Amino acid sequence: MKVGVPKERREGETRVAVSPDSVKKLVALGFDVSVEAGAGAGASFSDDLLREAGASIADSAAAVLGDAELVLKVRAPMSADEGEDEIGLINSGAMVIAHMSALSNKDGVAALAAAGLTGFAMDLMPRITRAQSMDVLSSQSNLAGYKAVLDAAGELGRAFPMMMTAAGTIAPAKVFIMGVGVAGLQAIATARRLGAVVTATDVRPATKEQVESLGGKFLEVDPEMEKDAQTEGGYAKEMPPEYFEKQKQVVAEHIKKQDVVITTALIPGRPAPVLVTEEMVRSMPDGAVIIDLAVEAGGNCPLSELGKVVIKHGVSIVGHDNVPGRLAENASSLYAKNIINFLTPLVDAESKEMAIDWEDEIIQGTLICRDGAVVHPALAGGGS
Ligand code: NAI
Repeated sequence: MKVGVPKERREGETRVAVSPDSVKKLVALGFDVSVEAGAGAGASFSDDLLREAGASIADSAAAVLGDAELVLKVRAPMSADEGEDEIGLINSGAMVIAHMSALSNKDGVAALAAAGLTGFAMDLMPRITRAQSMDVLSSQSNLAGYKAVLDAAGELGRAFPMMMTAAGTIAPAKVFIMGVGVAGLQAIATARRLGAVVTATDVRPATKEQVESLGGKFLEVDPEMEKDAQTEGGYAKEMPPEYFEKQKQVVAEHIKKQDVVITTALIPGRPAPVLVTEEMVRSMPDGAVIIDLAVEAGGNCPLSELGKVVIKHGVSIVGHDNVPGRLAENASSLYAKNIINFLTPLVDAESKEMAIDWEDEIIQGTLICRDGAVVHPALAGGGS
C-alpha cells in the first residue's frame, strides 16, 4: 500500500507528518512510503535521512499524491479556494490522516468528503486511556507549554530565578499560568525549573492538586461553581457569566503583580474564553509579558494579535501562531509517532493490508468523512 507524505503548504507550517523513525515503522508495517523532496526540511529531517530510513523521495506533491492510497499530513489538505488545490491532487478513495482542526473547519471537511476521500481527524481523538499515545493535542500542547515559557523569558527584561550577586539580589520572576491542561502543566514545570514563583488557575477543580504537585500555588476562583466544570472527556465546559465575573475580580487583583502571564484556556469547538481584559493589561507592571497560547482560537486576551508580538500599555503581548511548529523537530517526531500508534492496529499483521474495524471507538471518534459524506456526529450539517 502506498503512503504519500507531501510538504506542508500552509503558511508558517514547519512540521512534517513523518520522521526517520516513523518511516522505518511504516516500512515495517508493509507500506511503500513516498515523501515530497524538502518536506522534512523545517523539522531538520533531510531527504537523505528519510531516504536512508526507507522512504522514496519524489520531486512534487503531484508525484507523491497521485497514486497514494494513504496520505499523511500535519494540517488539513488545502482546497483550491484556499490558494492551492491539494485536495484535487489526492486520489479519489484515498485515506487522509491529519490534524484537520475539524470542529472549526467544516468547509474543509466537506471538501474532503466531496472529493471522495476517507478522512481521519487526529484532533478528534477520543480521550480514553487506549488512545493516549495517539493524542496529538497532548503531544503538541506539551511542547507549546514549554516553548511559551522560553518565549516569555526571551521577551522579559528580567531574569526568572532569584540571583544573589555581589551587586545585589534579583527577585525571582512571578509567572501566572491560566488554564492548567497539558500546555499549562508543562508551562508550570518549565517556569519552576527556571526558578520562577509560579501561580496557576483553572476551572477544573482536579487541577489544584496537579499545580501544587509541580510546586505552583493554585489561585482559586469559586470551588462551588467549578464542581461541574469538567466534561466526561476531561475538557472544560463553557462557564456561566457569573463565574467570569468572579474570576475577573480574583484575577484582576492577582495579575497586577505578575511579570509573566501565560494563557492556555480552550473550550473545544468554541472561541477561547477572554481571561485577561484590557483593564488587567493596563494594571500590569511595565515590561511584563503575556503569552497567549489560545490566540489561534480567538485569544484569551483581546489585545493579542495572531502571529505578532505587540506592546500595549507597556506590556509585551505575544501571539505566536503554531507554537509547536517553533519546535518543529520534536513536534514532528511526536506527531509522527502518534500517527504510527493510530495506524498500527489498522493494519493486518499477516496480509499487511488495511483491516479497519469501523465500529471501534477510536475510528468512530476520528472518522470525519467516508463515501462522499461527512459522517462525524460533531460535524452534522457539514455536508451529506
Ligand atoms: P484544553 O487545551 O482544551 O484547555 C486548556 C485548559 O484550559 C484546560 O485545563 C481547561 O480546563 C482550561 N480552561 C478552559 N476554560 C477556562 C476558563 N474559563 N478559566 C480557566 N481555565 C479554563 O485542555 P487539554 O490540555 O487538552 O486537556 C484537558 C484535560 O484532558 C486534562 O485534564 C488532561 O489531563 C486530559 N487529557 C486526557 C487524555 C487522555 O485520557 N487520553 C489525553 C490528554 C489530556
